[in-house]
Amino acid sequence: MTTPNRAKIGAASLLLASALAAGSAAWAAGGEPVHIDRQKWSFSGYLGKFDEAQLQRGFKVYVETCARCHGLKRIAFRNLVQPGGPSFPEAAVKSLAGTYKVDAEPNDQGKILKRPAILVDYLPSPYKNEQEARAALNGALPPDLSLIAKARGIESHAPFYLVPKNMLVDIATGYQEGGPDYIYAYLTGFKEPPAGTKVPDGMNYNRAFASPHMTAMPNPFAGGDGFVKYDDATPATVDNYARDVTAFLAWTADPRLEERKRLGLLVTIYLLITAVLLYLAKRRIWAKAH
Ligand code: HEC
Repeated sequence: MTTPNRAKIGAASLLLASALAAGSAAWAAGGEPVHIDRQKWSFSGYLGKFDEAQLQRGFKVYVETCARCHGLKRIAFRNLVQPGGPSFPEAAVKSLAGTYKVDAEPNDQGKILKRPAILVDYLPSPYKNEQEARAALNGALPPDLSLIAKARGIESHAPFYLVPKNMLVDIATGYQEGGPDYIYAYLTGFKEPPAGTKVPDGMNYNRAFASPHMTAMPNPFAGGDGFVKYDDATPATVDNYARDVTAFLAWTADPRLEERKRLGLLVTIYLLITAVLLYLAKRRIWAKAH
């Protein structure tokens, strides 16, 4: 009787040990885990909506600080006019587009000249290709930011027994903002390195960036508060620059978020009503059966 039980316990402890070993190996490879705080976003939750004025400020921050290195190749000028986004007036975006130069259609000699951009053009990237970007930035590649809010997230460092509970809470509250939470932490994560940490040339210490916390991106807000002028009454602080540009990048990665959430809510209400009707119908149909 005891042998099979012992074998089972042996197998179980072997499994547990290897799981723990794998876990600590991953921990060692990834270094010390970074804790990223969750932020409050107007677009979070089931009823979330983008704040138009915030997206407009975020676009301004992008153009004046990030666009020097990062492209937004999936966003066309016309998207900036559409509802559910920054919703800039069309005339303003038309004249803004006119200040950018894009490739024209081939002329009669087959040459591709430049022409001013129009609404249907996509935002031109600062570098022609990856090689040109790397050459300009010490070998580092500034990723295109169109989808970065979906490409990043935050890891949970909760003990394993809390993971199911946290998952349920995230589902119940509709949490999807891991990407924006990370981007905000990254943009505000440029801090003095801890004593004794050597920061190699061309690298910058950033507490939110994966261990060893060295990123090739210089602090884009080194200019401090006020270096981007806001057109509304919002205080022009580094914290607001980071928040606003992050909200803007959340929109570029999910331009139909509002539509999607509205439809999701309608479908849920519809299903609830259908469920009630089906229940009542069932009661009626089965009322005389017994
Ligand atoms: C001087 C050029 C430069 C500017 C200006 C700049 N970046 Fe970067 N950025 C980079 C480079 C280079 C990387 C790649 C960093 C790395 O892999 O270490 C990067 C990476 C990133 C990443 C990805 C980080 C990750 O987890 O991989 C995000 C997000 C980002 N930048 C956002 C921004 C935003 C938003 C702005 C404007 C507020 C901005 N950047 C301004 C050069 C720049």
